[in-house]
This record gives sequence, structure tokens and C-alpha cells, in this order.
Amino acid sequence: MNVLILTGAGISAESGIPTFRDANGLWEGHAFEEVATPQGFARNPELVQEFYNQRRRALLNPEIRPNAAHVALAEFERDHLEHGRGDFLLVTQNIDNLHQRAGSQNVLAMHGQLLQARCTYTEEVFDWTADLTADTPHPEDPDNDALRGCLRPNVVWFGEMPIGLTRIEKAATQADLFLAIGTSGVVYPAAGIVAQTSPECRRIEVNLDDTPASNAFDETIRGSASVEVPKLLNHFKAM
Ligand code: OAD
Repeated sequence: MNVLILTGAGISAESGIPTFRDANGLWEGHAFEEVATPQGFARNPELVQEFYNQRRRALLNPEIRPNAAHVALAEFERDHLEHGRGDFLLVTQNIDNLHQRAGSQNVLAMHGQLLQARCTYTEEVFDWTADLTADTPHPEDPDNDALRGCLRPNVVWFGEMPIGLTRIEKAATQADLFLAIGTSGVVYPAAGIVAQTSPECRRIEVNLDDTPASNAFDETIRGSASVEVPKLLNHFKAM
């Protein structure tokens, strides 16, 4: 059985990371265009850097930990691969690192990662836990003043191309089981993955509420990810 998982902000909500669409399209008091577009960054780089600095610092708080849903996915993957039961890919829209910290191996972070910085000249990516500012030196050429402030968060903004779309499409067409967990199903191309799966694929949505994508699934499970995901994966164990 080939398994494809898609996760969204809802899976990390119970770990203490706020979701996106809970406050009238605002993200912690900011319009998306302000803090999550290349144009917003060009207009006000300090504001955008500080916005992600705060998110990064919050993610590094030791109280933010993977929850039972992240852990269940990592354990399921380990067992599935160890026993040669088929492929497994976990696509996440989340920029936190909670899947990786829970032990998931095949994680594709399609919207980038908060704990990475990217050079705007060379596209090189660096692991990053510090704040980024207009004065941050380039890690490999710290004395080069021309490169100061060239780093941006390695996150995908609106209008930019998500990461790994070819791999995601291949996994979708080959999947026997597709689970979409804690995602509102309104942001494309992630919301379109369900439509790329084959008619034989079993498609299940886990969410607190109905979503605009719910009708595209064979089953919808209403409940919190930390309760429903371990139960569901237990059911599919050994298949
Ligand atoms: P959203 O904030 O849009 O949606 C979160 C979903 O999780 C909602 O449908 C909630 O009902 C559900 N939810 C909340 N708590 C839950 C829980 N404990 N258990 C199960 N479900 C729960 O987040 P995403 O769908 O991830 O993109 O948003 C998609 C993208 O929009 C993000 O990756 C981000 C944003 O703009 C970029 O930054 C490019």
C-alpha cells in the first residue's frame, strides 16, 4: 500500500502553534500580502523579517513539542517501511519542524521551513535558528559587506512556487491511501493534491470542521488530529 499524507496547520495547533485562518484572514494581526508575499518583503523587509523572527523564536520555545498525531505518523512510517509495505511520503504545508522532530523521515515541506534561511542571490539554503535582519552577514562570507542582509526565511510566499510539486504529483498518482490532516483545503496547489489521486485511492480527510475540499474525499473524520490520527493509523497498520 502506497501512502501519501498531507498535513496543514491543524496538526500543529495542539502543539501550541496558531493556525492561519482563525482570525478573518489575518495572520497574527497582519494581512497575508504584508508578510507572506515577495511584494510585501520588497516594500518592508524589516517588518517581514521581524514577523518570521518572532515565529522562529516561538518555535524554539521548549514547550512547543510534537503531539500524538505527529508521533503516530512517524511510528506508522517506520513500521510501514521496515516491513516493506509500500511507499510513504508525508507532504506538509507547515513550516515548523514538528514532523521531523517526531521522527518522520520522508517529509516534504512544500512551503519551506522556518528554521532555514536562503540567500537571495545564490538560492543557497542554510539551517538557521537566529534572528534575520538587514545586517545579517552571509554565513560563508561574513566580511563581505555587499552580501549583508541577503538572507530571507526559506519559506514559500504567495505567488512563489511551492517545493517538490513533481514528486508530490507522482506520489499522488501512485497512492493507495491519501490522508489530508488539519488543512483548510483552500490554498493551491496543496488543495488540488486530492484530485491528482487515482479513482482506486482511498481518500480520507481529518479535520475539526467541514472544508471546501471535503466533498473530494471518500471519508471525512471530524475531530482533533491528536485523537483521530493515532486511531486511524492504527486501523491501517499492517496493510
Ligand atoms: P489553515 O489555518 O488554513 O487551516 C487549518 C485547518 O485545520 C482548519 O481547517 C481547521 O479546521 C483545522 N484544525 C484546527 N485545529 C485542528 C485540530 N486540532 N485537529 C484537526 N484539524 C484542526 O491552515 P492550512 O490549511 O495549513 O501557506 O493553510 C494552508 C496554507 O495557507 C499554509 O501553509 C500557509 C497559509 O497561507 C503559506 O504560507 C504559503
